[in-house]
Amino acid sequence: MKVSYGKQKIEQADIDSVVAVLKSDFLTQGPAVQKFEEEFAKTVGAKYAVAFCNATAALHVGFKVLNKDIKKKVLVTPITFAASANCVLFERGQVEFVDVDPKTFNIDLAKIEEALNKNPGEYQGIIPVDFAGLPVDTEELRKLADRHNLWIMEDACHAIGGGFYNSANQFIKCGSGIYSDLTVFSFHPVKHIATGEGGMVTTNSEENYKHLMKLRSHGIERDSNQFVQPSHGGWYHEMQELGYNYRMSDINAALGSSQLMRLSTNIDNRQKIAKKYKEYLKSSVIKIQEYDEKKFLNGYHLFVIQTENRKELYDFLKENEIYSQVHYLPVYKHPYYQQNGFAETKLKSAENFYSKALSLPMYHGMTEAEFDHVLATLKKYESR
Ligand SMILES: Cc1ncc(COP(=O)(O)O)c(C=O)c1O
Repeated sequence: MKVSYGKQKIEQADIDSVVAVLKSDFLTQGPAVQKFEEEFAKTVGAKYAVAFCNATAALHVGFKVLNKDIKKKVLVTPITFAASANCVLFERGQVEFVDVDPKTFNIDLAKIEEALNKNPGEYQGIIPVDFAGLPVDTEELRKLADRHNLWIMEDACHAIGGGFYNSANQFIKCGSGIYSDLTVFSFHPVKHIATGEGGMVTTNSEENYKHLMKLRSHGIERDSNQFVQPSHGGWYHEMQELGYNYRMSDINAALGSSQLMRLSTNIDNRQKIAKKYKEYLKSSVIKIQEYDEKKFLNGYHLFVIQTENRKELYDFLKENEIYSQVHYLPVYKHPYYQQNGFAETKLKSAENFYSKALSLPMYHGMTEAEFDHVLATLKKYESR
């Protein structure tokens, strides 16, 4: 039985939804994209949502919208997919990696504060990542950001459906924009919601929303009230800044809308799988993400463990057709970063985390038989 670390779950309703678009007048961005955006904004409790062709494009445009001064640095976690930091480099901006908390594996807020106090005025923003699905405490992060006049672009690619209780005991959904200026999501098939390729940015700022919309589509303005030049007639539209074609298609959006309807069962299933793993791992030497379970709702995109003999376990699982994965090599350890100014960067907790990290299978449609196979194999490995 082959088991991968993550995969999409496509049902007949998803297929019907896509087929309906194929039979309609729109294939590229049309009414299905707008519908998906509205449903998504409602689900996470934000005023606005803007769909993109993938989260990397969304992060790029997000950074362009928030960027105040390209000479000022952006603080980023190293334990993430490279795109979380690359989005700053796309614009020739400057990244500084901040070490992670050894328990949660999320960016360490105390280390952020240290950097901000050490070099006041050098930074413009923070890109925290809700690693594996565990939300960053953005209430605390916002306080820090406000003290230093920084923006927050939360990379919640792992954390749709996640959230936390703030100090007023109010549940803050990832993407609600209560504390983050922008929040970015991915719909790559290993994530909670699959659209093929796809991404989304949510915000409560009308100004940011309009700017995201414009940059997503070539920097072109179609609203006659916003024209710089006099209109030449009904057809007239004008390009006001250098933008991109980062649009999502209606085909992808139809799949997203259909998948979004099952988000809560998706999260429930992931929670159940995590609970079963945790139950077993209580009596094991393998360590997992530690956090206050009463405060945080982990979206569990990934189930990440820490094990001393990571390579041995990875190979053993593979021999048994279980395809685990490692998330992540600290971003600055990639050759591109090593060759472009980060060769001296050394963050102890991030590197220690990476040396032991392994993501066990975790996905919405995981069957009991698949889970049992993983667990039995883990037990076999540990009792050798
Ligand atoms: C944390 C994080 N940020 C950004 C991305 C980029 O997402 P996409 O593949 O949709 O461009 C990913 C995808 O793996 C991710 O895990």
